[in-house]
Amino acid sequence: MIKPINQITVLKTCVIISLLLLLFNQGCNSLCGKEVEGDLNIAPSTPVIHVVFTGEENGYLEPCGCSEKQLGGFSKRHTLINHLREEDGHLILLSLGDLTGNVGRQGEIKMETALEALGLMGYDVHNIGEKDLDIGTDLLGYFSQISNVGFISSNIKFTTPVLEIKPYVIKEVKTKETILKVGILGVLSPELVGNYYHDMEVMDPVLSLKPLLKDLHDKTDILILLSHAEMEESIKIAEACPDLNLIISGHMVDRPDLYLEKVNDTYIIPVGEKGKYVGKITLSSQQKQVGEGEHFDNLSPGIEITPLDGKFEDSSDITMLLKIYQQRLRDEELLLQVIKSDPSSSLTFIGNDDCAVCHNKIYKHWEETGHASAYETLEKVEHEYDPECVECHVVGLNYFTGFETIESTPGLKGVGCESCHGPGSDHKETQSKDYGRVHVGVERCGTCHNDEHSPNFEFEDYWQKIKHPREGK
Ligand code: HEC
Ligand code: HEC
Ligand code: HEC
Ligand code: HEC
Repeated sequence: MIKPINQITVLKTCVIISLLLLLFNQGCNSLCGKEVEGDLNIAPSTPVIHVVFTGEENGYLEPCGCSEKQLGGFSKRHTLINHLREEDGHLILLSLGDLTGNVGRQGEIKMETALEALGLMGYDVHNIGEKDLDIGTDLLGYFSQISNVGFISSNIKFTTPVLEIKPYVIKEVKTKETILKVGILGVLSPELVGNYYHDMEVMDPVLSLKPLLKDLHDKTDILILLSHAEMEESIKIAEACPDLNLIISGHMVDRPDLYLEKVNDTYIIPVGEKGKYVGKITLSSQQKQVGEGEHFDNLSPGIEITPLDGKFEDSSDITMLLKIYQQRLRDEELLLQVIKSDPSSSLTFIGNDDCAVCHNKIYKHWEETGHASAYETLEKVEHEYDPECVECHVVGLNYFTGFETIESTPGLKGVGCESCHGPGSDHKETQSKDYGRVHVGVERCGTCHNDEHSPNFEFEDYWQKIKHPREGK
């Protein structure tokens, strides 16, 4: 199977995936959930290539900074990858799919930015996920042509001819004595595709893979599948396609370090959510004289999962890219394109100043809380034109009569009275006692203080910090 550089030799290279479990996550013994199968004996071998895998960013370009200790982001990832490259130049970088989370213009700009970032980092392959498809085949085709990263899908049939999406890629890795050929395939589970597309069809993964694998069997030394599917389905693929050495998988799996599956000789590992972790598998090649017909079957996995935490600096290149991204959101005035709905029963937002007239004591106190300066917080980190941030840092962005821009609705910046009490137009007239009582409380707080943005939120504890003073009658 191996083609040595000096063809005279009948040397066969036996490829071993050796195992390193370097777990950075303190305290939370990261592999607690799952036994790591396969022995941990590291063969006396020379590491030649490292497969680095990420995916399912779902639009998460960077941690928002809403709370401490958030993981992930392209900027830290770049720093880690540069570091890994210093250790060993032979990196294969794989992206599982779903770079963007939302449809619409912001999703498109995001996808373009994310692909530029992957290109900068030197990614080899991007597999198509169902969210990538949502940006539309025209734009996907355009991105596949301009991107440095190779797009693959083994089971999506496109009828648009311009798309630069290949069924597989063979990546050659030179070592001292030989060239290792790594075959990389990619599938998307048809079950994850909700929309109907007139210009493409998602085929059965196994049926699509079979002929490709047959073809690749003699042309490659290692076969890796990017399986954009849930673990369960990836396991079935492994059962049906024993030629695969490694499957990168895992839809809706938040932490990759908790799951590792083995089916016969195929290892299956998920990428985790939102690019918070970077996975790396070390492939070692051992020169070995083997008889005809022998396979390299003594595989054991070598996996390193790194949470992207504060240890990693932000890379200046990606920081610059993200600045440009913010500038584009501003230039294209995406705040004005936010889809709005009606607030309940034709009420309108009136702004904090009106409330101050009658509830002055509460107003004065509120002014001193972080809520009042939540918009300025975004200005400080230069994200005040990003609808995805502004949403929780102002009053009513997603409603008619709510915040639009700082110029047109300055009175609705920050988390104001009506962020918690709802639109107050009616109450201003009637001074009804019922107003603002109904929904205030844990639920209302939770629309902003959710797990992602406020992981330490506890109502009692938080409310005490911002509790209104008693109003004198
Ligand atoms: C779902 C609502 C939500 C979204 C979306 C959101 N934030 Fe926040 N943000 C919060 C909440 C809630 C807090 C306060 C968290 C806490 O103290 O527990 C916060 C706090 C912050 C802080 C820290 C303020 C401080 O001084 O402590 C920063 C900075 C910040 N957000 C920036 C951003 C940026 C940038 C984005 C967009 C990328 C963003 N936020 C999107 C809800 C949100
Ligand atoms: C014209 C004066 C006036 C304005 C303007 C006004 N309120 Fe009131 N508000 C009142 C009065 C009077 C009450 C009833 C107090 C009572 O009977 O205990 C009240 C009651 C409330 C209550 C319910 C209190 C309770 O005891 O249940 C909330 C909440 C409230 N106001 C919030 C607001 C907010 C938020 C705004 C601005 C959007 C606002 N008010 C604007 C006069 C006003
Ligand atoms: C519209 C979104 C939103 C809602 C609703 C909301 N918050 Fe916040 N909250 C924020 C944001 C954003 C921040 C960060 C403000 C900053 O520092 O920039 C924050 C910060 C805070 C802080 C820290 C600020 C300080 O002054 O110490 C507390 C405490 C807090 N929220 C409590 C609550 C409670 C309790 C509720 C519900 C009664 C609530 N919040 C509802 C968005 C919200
Ligand atoms: C972070 C959410 C939040 C914000 C912002 C907020 N409130 Fe409240 N407000 C509450 C909650 C929760 C209660 C109910 C308190 C309780 O049940 O003890 C409340 C109660 C009230 C009451 C009833 C009187 C009382 O003290 O129980 C009034 C009046 C009121 N708010 C006015 C305002 C005004 C005016 C503003 C803006 C200056 C404002 N609120 C901003 C959450 C908020």
